[in-house]
Amino acid sequence: MAAAAPLSTDSLVTARSPLRAHGPLTPAIRPRSPRFDFDAVPRHWFAGSTVGTAFANGLNLLFPAGERFFVRSVRHYLDRIRDPQLREDVKGFSGQEGLHAYAHERQFEALEKQGYTIRPFLRFYEAFAYGFVEKVAPAELCLAATAACEHFTATMATNALAREAEGALLLKEPTMRALLLWHAVEEIEHRSVAFDVLNEVNPSYALRVGGLAVATSMLFGLWMLGAGTLLAQERPSLGRVRRELRARRERRTKYTAPDFGAAMRAYLKRDFHPSHDAACDELARAYVAEAGLDS
Ligand SMILES: [Fe+2]
Ligand SMILES: [Fe+2]
Repeated sequence: MAAAAPLSTDSLVTARSPLRAHGPLTPAIRPRSPRFDFDAVPRHWFAGSTVGTAFANGLNLLFPAGERFFVRSVRHYLDRIRDPQLREDVKGFSGQEGLHAYAHERQFEALEKQGYTIRPFLRFYEAFAYGFVEKVAPAELCLAATAACEHFTATMATNALAREAEGALLLKEPTMRALLLWHAVEEIEHRSVAFDVLNEVNPSYALRVGGLAVATSMLFGLWMLGAGTLLAQERPSLGRVRRELRARRERRTKYTAPDFGAAMRAYLKRDFHPSHDAACDELARAYVAEAGLDS
């Protein structure tokens, strides 16, 4: 089958939600700032699991510096954005990511009180990803990597909100659950922003694929390293890790992970746009109403 022709910038503008492309400017993406008190969060907050908590904490370690990088990558091109609604959305996106970064950094303090050593990993991660890779990579590739990372965060957010709607979310600890679901809602709300800015700056398909390659290797490589660093600190309870894994196999505890393979295949479609998956908007709206996030 012949490959589809690359989309023009104009066709990408019309591919957006009609609400975003036309009409008066609306502050559609609005940052919220719920308060979290991490003092009472137990050490193994993810379903009581040492391994699950290490992977969840490992991802959380990447968020603050990562989200500030996303904002820098997008705002670098602020003067190239012609669509006034998109300029408005960039403001909302920046506000949301800034508050996510702040909230996750507060959780770092709790991790240290729980006895974890996280600063050496954070120093390595920030020096490598933002002191080196960001400095040598062209700004357009940084923007493309941001757009791809935003697709991954929206994929994880959709998975979490779908499990929540089914009553099947394994994470029950109330503070971390509220943090996760608030973050998930806002990742869904701003999921198109970096992608739309990328298409205004350079709608090249090759650039989008290059951004996906960089995002995939950096995100998953650093995530595994962060999780491994935390898991190594569970040394005194290695027996517990083994027991957990055995119990999980025996009970077939079901953890439905986000389908990153399907997410990448969708992103590689020439006509992909984050707004095409509208079901996640419903999930986000339902949680906002249920949790009273806007009241
Ligand atoms: Fe975020
Ligand atoms: Fe985001």
